[in-house]
Amino acid sequence: MTQSSKAGTALITGASSGIGAVYADRFAKRGYNVILAARDEARLNALAAKLHAQYGVAAAVLPADLSTEAGIEAVEGRLEADAAISVFVNNAGIAKLGTLAEMSGRDISDIIQLNVNAAARLAGAAARAFTPRKTGRVINVASVLALVSEWFNPVYNASKAFVLSLSQSMQNELGPLGVKVQAVLPGATRTEIWSRAGADISALPPEMVMGVDEMVDAALVGFDRDETVTIPALPDAAEFEAFTQARLKMGPNLSRDHAAARYHTAAAT
Ligand SMILES: NC(=O)c1ccc[n+]([C@@H]2O[C@H](COP(=O)([O-])OP(=O)(O)OC[C@H]3O[C@@H](n4cnc5c(N)ncnc54)[C@H](OP(=O)(O)O)[C@@H]3O)[C@@H](O)[C@H]2O)c1
Repeated sequence: MTQSSKAGTALITGASSGIGAVYADRFAKRGYNVILAARDEARLNALAAKLHAQYGVAAAVLPADLSTEAGIEAVEGRLEADAAISVFVNNAGIAKLGTLAEMSGRDISDIIQLNVNAAARLAGAAARAFTPRKTGRVINVASVLALVSEWFNPVYNASKAFVLSLSQSMQNELGPLGVKVQAVLPGATRTEIWSRAGADISALPPEMVMGVDEMVDAALVGFDRDETVTIPALPDAAEFEAFTQARLKMGPNLSRDHAAARYHTAAAT
């Protein structure tokens, strides 16, 4: 990367399509240099050339398969070595259609490898890179399925619950050190993930599906407001706030020296 930018550099995983490609466009538009990571080098090159031509920023590509150790290490290495990186968009992810019983063991591992293992490894690299500088922003792309176990399927939902929990714990840990973390929870969003997962997005009621530009633009409003959790579709933010308060209220009672009265058996009393 030859050209420096006042805004810094945004490194985006899963930048070759969908949500990641729109984030790349929006950060380039804001004057950030961008580093685009994914497997499809031809698509990354085409997007980099377009962003450079359109916005005059430096746009580099970082081809990496995050299902491999080498791919994860390549992105970890870039995050830790390039001090110009000020934003990390931890976005690459996959989904697979099917119940737990219908999924192969390989499908289960593939989802966990990318959505959980790679996401956590790269979040860790961003934390190591940003903490000493006392600045930096991490955007972790989760899903509303982190909150709705009753929809879709167990492994994908759990992978996104992991990303939400990771983000909230990261914000708790890194916030006081000057690094801000945002979890973005998209609902159904019109991208290739659906066809790649073997799912038909047109089977969903259209009122449940958001365009990808609108989703990312809304998430960036949340980013600009320093939100820790952004749910672009949720009309009433107070509902999530109430949910959070209910969770926090349980806090003092979740770890105690005795079982709750309802679990006392006659034999134990
Ligand atoms: N669309 C939705 O309805 C929705 C809803 C909630 C959350 N999300 C989340 O949003 C994120 C982005 O998904 P999307 O909807 O934009 O889907 P998408 O268009 O399929 O994009 C997924 C991106 O991840 C990359 N990727 C996939 N496997 C990879 C691997 N092994 N190594 C490196 N990169 C890989 C893909 O690029 P290559 O194929 O070039 O590697 C692509 O750039 C995901 O985390 C997804 O779970 C999506």
